[in-house]
Amino acid sequence: MHVDLRSDTVTRPSPAMRKAMAHAEVGDDVFSDDPTVNALQDYAAKLAGKEAALFVASGTMANQIAIRLATQPGDAILMEAKAHPFNYEAGAAAVISGVQTHLIATEDGLLTADDVRSTVRGPNDHFAPATLLCVEDTTNRGGGGVYPKTQLNELIAVAKELGLRTHLDGARVFNAVVASGIALDQRLKGFDTASFCLSKGLGAPVGSLLVGSAADMARARRIRKMLGGGMRQAGIIAAGGLYALEHNVQRLADDHRRARMLATGLTGHGFEVRAPETNIVYVAIDNAAEAQAALHDRGIWCIAVAKDSIRLVTHMDVDDGGISRTIDAFAALR
Ligand SMILES: Cc1ncc(COP(=O)(O)O)c(C=O)c1O
Repeated sequence: MHVDLRSDTVTRPSPAMRKAMAHAEVGDDVFSDDPTVNALQDYAAKLAGKEAALFVASGTMANQIAIRLATQPGDAILMEAKAHPFNYEAGAAAVISGVQTHLIATEDGLLTADDVRSTVRGPNDHFAPATLLCVEDTTNRGGGGVYPKTQLNELIAVAKELGLRTHLDGARVFNAVVASGIALDQRLKGFDTASFCLSKGLGAPVGSLLVGSAADMARARRIRKMLGGGMRQAGIIAAGGLYALEHNVQRLADDHRRARMLATGLTGHGFEVRAPETNIVYVAIDNAAEAQAALHDRGIWCIAVAKDSIRLVTHMDVDDGGISRTIDAFAALR
């Protein structure tokens, strides 16, 4: 049996989650009458401390709806250079919203208020006006880093000062919640919109949520429809998401412990590893693609994200034994 550390998206629904899905009450969600989708949205909005939530197909769809909500064609949006919407969403912001993306490069993927202040340019007919700041917590390509709450507060304050709306891409925000001990509603406080994924560390098969004001979520619903994301008896998948939120949040601490175990083991074998705050471990390695293939031959699946870097992501389908096997397989590369 292989150990799959390519991503926390590879998790499969547990028997209990499947049972909840099989027994879900359903209706037509395009008519807003799927009781399980409605229950999930109500639960998520409450947890997030926002007026409303919208169930969508993916983290990408949630981010893109948030961008469309906050912008007009010709606007500029700001995000860190490694952020997901710029790097991994197929250029969607340019196509769906017609916006220009201003990137801010940082070492760790975490923006500061000064970064934002020094990037936003004043009104001038030559410039695309910046209207939205996107923040990613935890940072995927930044190494699973968690924003300190004060830094989030400062970002919200500077965005307000500069007249920007704010969106938090919280694909893995529950990892940030568990690592920081700060509840979701507190971490999202002040953001106009936020998204989070049910299909990553939380272990549901499909789905993400977008949260925000009731007025924004009503508009978001229409944008979702425009993108072909209006689903019918979606309660079957929403039930998996509801189960994930009710049962799988606190266990993310196990993934974080295993990421630390992995980092310690690899460091012990002389690898250069960024100390993980959550469930993502980056290992510096020459010829990463070759190393990825050699590890695959030993039953360890991972991704070479650059020519000199491999990413390993811990999740609920990898146990302590899998971590030990991974450390041994890396050691054998030496
Ligand atoms: C930070 C971040 N945002 C958004 C997404 C997009 O999620 P999805 O794959 O559900 O579209 C991902 C996926 O890995 C991600 O890491």
